[in-house]
Amino acid sequence: MRVVSLNVKNFRNLIEQNISFEKGLNVITGQNAQGKTNLMESIYLCSLGKSPRTEKHKDMINYKKDFARVSTGFNSRFGDAEISVVLFGNKKKSVSVNSVPILKLGEMLGYFNTVYFSPDEIRLIKSSPDYRRRFMDIDLSQTDKNYFYSLVAYNKILSQRNSLLKSSNNIDSLKDMLFVWDTQLALECARIVTKRQAFCNSLKDYAADAHLRVSGGKENLELTYITSITGDSIAEKQQTALNLLKANIKRDFELRYTTTGCQRDDIKFSVNGVDVREFGSQGQQRTSSLALKLAELSVFKQTTGDYPVLMLDDVLSELDLNRQKQLLSFNNDMQIILTATHLEPELEKNLQYKKYTITEGKVN
Ligand SMILES: Nc1ncnc2c1ncn2[C@@H]1O[C@H](COP(=O)(O)OP(=O)(O)O)[C@@H](O)[C@H]1O
Ligand SMILES: [Mg+2]
Repeated sequence: MRVVSLNVKNFRNLIEQNISFEKGLNVITGQNAQGKTNLMESIYLCSLGKSPRTEKHKDMINYKKDFARVSTGFNSRFGDAEISVVLFGNKKKSVSVNSVPILKLGEMLGYFNTVYFSPDEIRLIKSSPDYRRRFMDIDLSQTDKNYFYSLVAYNKILSQRNSLLKSSNNIDSLKDMLFVWDTQLALECARIVTKRQAFCNSLKDYAADAHLRVSGGKENLELTYITSITGDSIAEKQQTALNLLKANIKRDFELRYTTTGCQRDDIKFSVNGVDVREFGSQGQQRTSSLALKLAELSVFKQTTGDYPVLMLDDVLSELDLNRQKQLLSFNNDMQIILTATHLEPELEKNLQYKKYTITEGKVN
């Protein structure tokens, strides 16, 4: 997978830009607040239909304009294609693939795959389970549309169930209604958990390998998917999920939200047997998040036959020179788009790359 061209209009401080990217490593350097992250965000938007840093479309439109447009031309195993996203301040965004408008976000997923790594990604290890679920959801949605549709269905039923729990003061009047939804909720839950488990299983060995490499052979990273939805088959998992919903109905009613299900799941990371989230040093957390990103690339390659585009936004300064090298020499077949304030002289000397600079939203 490779980005060939990027066409941006009125996107944050990028007023009008046409950029061509090369195979291999592309390095965009610039001072702070010049538009490096904005540029990455615009590419990400064409991959996932949303921003890695805001839920609000309006934030991405230049302050003085009323729309923004991004088109990314890319090349994949299936040939050349282009995805365009137009954002409006006051109506829904419009997305098209090869100039054909698409109606549902799910339809755009999987065409153009990216893995995005920014300093915030250390949150993956350190912060609340939401981030880890989102990480799995983003990867799985890009490689498996049915996963995405299960997730959409699950979240919709879950939110209806929670509204219902809030709406009535009589638990008995709810039970019949809940029963109908719970069967469907439990089924989607079982499907989601099954796929997340398989994903974590693939990720596990790659992450352990990568971690061993970036820690210089000193540390073993172990990754475990944590869920209360037990069972081998989907049917067994569905039954477990349903039993949990039933067993906890009183508590759900008191708290007025659903307390069981895959929206509570998590991934646990340990290094040499110690929980990295709770007890790991900042350095170990950083190394673990890097290992996880490298593993993500391998899983993409394994499932789709193609590496995604790796986008590295300002992460080098967080890593020592050895880890920087590990990251940039991961695989020569993969395209990397990297932003930084500068490159270390040793990297600058030894790496082959296409160089760009960005100043006040203008790329040269
Ligand atoms: N909607 C917007 N319209 C115009 N400029 C914006 C908008 N959103 C952010 N900016 C500007 O973009 C710049 C920050 O860009 P960013 O890509 O985050 O910088 P960096 O190069 O440090 O990654 C700031 O100058 C900010 O004012
Ligand atoms: Mg930035």
